[in-house]
Amino acid sequence: MPCPLEYLGKLEYLENLENLEYLDNLASLEYLENNELMKDIVFATNNEHKLSELRQLMAGKYNVLSLADIGCHDDIPETAATIEGNAMIKAQWVKEHYGYDCFSDDTGLEIDALGGEPGVHSARYGGVAHDSERNIDKVLHLLHGVPLERRTARFRTAIVLILDGETHQFEGKVEGHILTERHGAGGFGYDPIFKPVEAECAFGEMTAEQKNRISHRGRAVAKLTEFLSTRS
Ligand code: IMP
Repeated sequence: MPCPLEYLGKLEYLENLENLEYLDNLASLEYLENNELMKDIVFATNNEHKLSELRQLMAGKYNVLSLADIGCHDDIPETAATIEGNAMIKAQWVKEHYGYDCFSDDTGLEIDALGGEPGVHSARYGGVAHDSERNIDKVLHLLHGVPLERRTARFRTAIVLILDGETHQFEGKVEGHILTERHGAGGFGYDPIFKPVEAECAFGEMTAEQKNRISHRGRAVAKLTEFLSTRS
């Protein structure tokens, strides 16, 4: 690498160096100021889809970190009997073990004809965790022959936030019906068999934007971000 002094006079070189250092310092200052304005908050998930959605919603106000970002690879036990309880366990785990302010979410599908099941067991209703096809098959089997007017159900999301030593809870829900067969290939989980009351088609037939506008999670997150926007 040739020495810059070979190309510049000594004075010019020093001036340039000072300019560079000055610009560098300014950039660092600006970087620090921007980041000082943004508080770190952990979202107790590693679900990339949920993370990018929340990062977008909180851009400029909060620096949203994932569990992986804080080095948490724990298998957090979700042993509560309610979605609120599981959300609480996750948020408290992060606060107690890692010291971060944190929020977490948990969702359940509550089907009235099944006494509120699968509810807190939604992820593994068919027997295998996160196997949506098996989960849907089980629901359709159990509801076989049940007429539409008795196939009422709702998705409910609970969010627990631990911030500045206080705990807050937010809920979002969407009422609908369980269809008799799958519709659409969009979304995930039970989306192909859930038709919200306020829509003409199943969640599985909607774009992500259409779903987020009326979904349980979208509504719970809207309450969370509205609350956070009132904090300094
Ligand atoms: P989680 O608490 O967000 O992990 O949700 C638990 C389970 O509920 C998931 O594994 C899915 O089976 C189901 N679920 C949650 N949100 C949705 C949704 O928006 N559409 C369909 N199924 C969902």
